[in-house]
Amino acid sequence: MKLFIKISLSITILTAIGCTTPAVTNSGNADISGTKVLFKDVKTIIDAKCVTCHNASRAEDGFMLDTDSKILSASNKINREVISGKMPPRNSGYIMSETEKNTIRDWVAQGSSSN
Ligand code: HEC
Repeated sequence: MKLFIKISLSITILTAIGCTTPAVTNSGNADISGTKVLFKDVKTIIDAKCVTCHNASRAEDGFMLDTDSKILSASNKINREVISGKMPPRNSGYIMSETEKNTIRDWVAQGSSSN
């Protein structure tokens, strides 16, 4: 009986620790929520707000964002254009919300992960 209490107490403690440990430790770069940005969420934004003008048949500036590898290798450029407000172009009808901009920024700050 005593052993059982010890074991269940240990499990309780471990669970409590697990719940308070952040899922991701990033390299100290500021981000708003502290939660890891998933690549699929970045891709959803790029698909909705960028790919129309940056794909194989319409590559503005010779620049494409139609595959995962292109998005990953261009992460710094994407971040620069989005944060500066240059992309998507004004008057193009594509508008980035603050949440979407923060998602891009945090993804890059966390190391532009592919998952
Ligand atoms: C309506 C069309 C359109 C949309 C949507 C659009 N772009 Fe562009 N993009 C352009 C045009 C046109 C240029 C080249 C001229 C310029 O810089 O304004 C360009 C240039 C760029 C460049 C510079 C390329 C280089 O080699 O330096 C980057 C980076 C870029 N866009 C990223 C993005 C991102 C990221 C998004 C989505 C958030 C986006 N664009 C959405 C039209 C678009």
